[in-house]
Amino acid sequence: MLSINMQNPPADTIAKAVQFIRAGRLVAFPTETVYGLGADATDDVAVAEIFAVKGRPQFNPLIVHVDSVAMAQRFVAWSKTADKLADKFWPGPLTLVLARLSDSKISLLASAGGDTLGVRLPAHPLARALIAQAGVPLAAPSANRSGAVSPTLAAHVREELGDDVPIILDGGACAVGIESTVVDISGEIPALLRPGFVTREQLEEVLGRKVVTHDDPSGMLKSPGLLLTHYAPKLPVRLNVTEPHAREALLAFGPNVPKGAKTIINLSETSDLKEAAARLFASLRALDKPEYSTIAVMPIPHDGLGAAINDRLTRAASA
Ligand code: TXA
Ligand code: MG
Repeated sequence: MLSINMQNPPADTIAKAVQFIRAGRLVAFPTETVYGLGADATDDVAVAEIFAVKGRPQFNPLIVHVDSVAMAQRFVAWSKTADKLADKFWPGPLTLVLARLSDSKISLLASAGGDTLGVRLPAHPLARALIAQAGVPLAAPSANRSGAVSPTLAAHVREELGDDVPIILDGGACAVGIESTVVDISGEIPALLRPGFVTREQLEEVLGRKVVTHDDPSGMLKSPGLLLTHYAPKLPVRLNVTEPHAREALLAFGPNVPKGAKTIINLSETSDLKEAAARLFASLRALDKPEYSTIAVMPIPHDGLGAAINDRLTRAASA
């Protein structure tokens, strides 16, 4: 494991991290809030690897880190509201949730299959240098295992993730130390999804309007779908299928696929759960067509990434 303990690591350290990012591997890097566990946000398998290392039993959407407003504009439907907030708080600890552009190159897994994307321009010079030199946006959750607190020192990342992350860029202690504020501005009403360093009052002052929260007594966020971050297929979903029907679309897994369905997409012919996670949301969307009666899903093991895959499919089946 390469880990360089300097505020300004030599250029070849960043160059090494860039090589890893380009090869679809993970790099832990400092931001001004907490350390992130980053991968090329446009690479489905690399994003799946983040979930595997985090050990999250669910696919939560990930924040995509950019090096400029221009980079963000390539992937999300930028708006006047976004301009106002970015002018005031970027680079810095504010994540903007915006609608994905339909031709967005960002992995659907980073959006947990949804139509929105959280983007953030971090202030830490090392984070900025890494993104700029890699030339790709980095999907990065906090660099801790699921359920543990966010790391604010490179040593925390090392203790927590050990050899599961081959490179940790050491930028010293994180100045802010708590996670970014997450505000959803993809809809009519700005919604605070996660409190953080930037306060609701600060957001309201810049926007000149009310920012609501999940449990707002006004009930403004009760409208269904406003906080829906997960993709739910329109077709019914049938799980643990071993005998598909003639009008069904089959989401297969593994080498032994039963015959009989109208169409088949195999998440992984080799039963590789990382490959399956990487393909899950794009496959569900591809099968969610009116010419089929149902999306039938073959049994998928529950170990490792299988837990999150099954969680998502179970939600889709009960939606
Ligand atoms: O300060 C931070 O935000 C750090 C550094 C590394 O940037 N990152 C971080 O990521 O805390 P994570 O994955 O631990 O938390 C991301 C939060 C989650 O609560 C997630 O649900 C929310 O942001 N989020 C991200 N994208 C979203 C989206 N498209 N819609 C709704 N919520 C989103
Ligand atoms: Mg976290």
